[in-house]
Amino acid sequence: MSAAREHWGSRLGFIMASAGSAVGLGNIWKFPYMAGANGGGAFLIIYLGCVLFFGLSLVMAELAIGRATQRNPVGAFRTLAGRGWSVVGALGVATAFVILAVYVVVAGWTLAYVVLMANDTFAGVDVEQSRQVFSSFTSSTFMPLLCAAVFTVGMVTVVIGGVAGGIERVAKWLMPLLFVLLIVLALRSITLPGAGAGIDFYLWPDWSKVGPDTWGGAISQAFFSLSLGMGAMITYGSYMSREQNLPRDATLVVGLDTTVALLAGLVILPAVFATGFQPDEGPGLTFLTLPAVFATMPAGSLFGMAFFVLLAIAALTSAVSLLEVVVSYFVDEKSLSRIKASLLCGLIVFALGMPASLSQGVWSDYTIAGKNFLDAADFISTAVMMPVGGLMMALFTGWVLGPRAVSAIQSYSGQPMPLAGLWLFILRYVAPLGIGWILLQGFLG
Ligand code: TRP
Repeated sequence: MSAAREHWGSRLGFIMASAGSAVGLGNIWKFPYMAGANGGGAFLIIYLGCVLFFGLSLVMAELAIGRATQRNPVGAFRTLAGRGWSVVGALGVATAFVILAVYVVVAGWTLAYVVLMANDTFAGVDVEQSRQVFSSFTSSTFMPLLCAAVFTVGMVTVVIGGVAGGIERVAKWLMPLLFVLLIVLALRSITLPGAGAGIDFYLWPDWSKVGPDTWGGAISQAFFSLSLGMGAMITYGSYMSREQNLPRDATLVVGLDTTVALLAGLVILPAVFATGFQPDEGPGLTFLTLPAVFATMPAGSLFGMAFFVLLAIAALTSAVSLLEVVVSYFVDEKSLSRIKASLLCGLIVFALGMPASLSQGVWSDYTIAGKNFLDAADFISTAVMMPVGGLMMALFTGWVLGPRAVSAIQSYSGQPMPLAGLWLFILRYVAPLGIGWILLQGFLG
């Protein structure tokens, strides 16, 4: 048997670490461009509905599975229901590797942008010139790999430090810093002359831009943003103590994640409107449009740098949670030491990130089903593996565990769990139908 399982040092530490997992590229890079392309306020309303209806229930389910078993995702399912179900955990571990391959590459770009901003590279550029800077950087061979490597080393270092000594400690420093940067940037953005149009766009729903894929997009965004469907919350739950009030703390984490996404929209959209750019650029909004936006602002490079530092912090605390999933698997199941498991997994992640990075340049001709390696890895993880994982976890908690899950949740007080019936109803019916629907959409194109 291995040594006693590690635990969070404090309740606040758990909340910061879990919010750190949830708050990532998904909140600051994806959410604003999705809102920008899907009717602003209309997307906001649909997204909030998804978080409330599916997100919170699934976060609670994953945390409960982790806390009840005190195991990594594979071990957790095996403990509760035998070998057959442990496949769901194994899928989660595989998903973590695939997401990380994408994550270290994009996070590497973020680091590069901090440096580019510091060097005033974007002074006076328009969107076209900014696009050229982006594509000549990302399609080059060496620098993006170096940036991904630097990010990978940072992430591995945090995970080697352990649960309380590494992940929790770093999150307790970086998350407050992230909030401060976010609020400063939001205040800057909404006080720009002409920001009002962006605020209107963001808060008034334009239902005409809501198409059939807006709904599926909002559900998968809620999943990705809350780190669901692949066992990250199972792993973090496995370091929780039974005395912790799980529904309350899960609600706090979900609330923090959602607040950050809403604020990120308030940083980006008003600034985009104020400077006369378009909000529907899509994934390029952050890396192409924003530098041009900052170029028109007084002290723009400084705000630009702050923005990319914010993005890098968000990416680091999320990547750490993905790596912890695979590390906890190797530690629990293969009896590796934490340090060996972290180094091994870091190497695997970098090896997978390499083709993802090179696919933007020299390897762009190698495609899988018409997508380059980065897009293919992003698609298969977010549109297929995570929803399948989330679907199985909802069914598992709702049908296989059922009332056992409710007792696991209420272990902290012995008081009956409030709204337990509604929770099980969502896990049994509402979440599987909603997720089944995103999957269908993914397959039908
Ligand atoms: N939630 C993170 C984001 O918004 C990404 C992330 C971290 C994640 N851990 C995860 C996504 C686990 C899915 C599963 O960027």
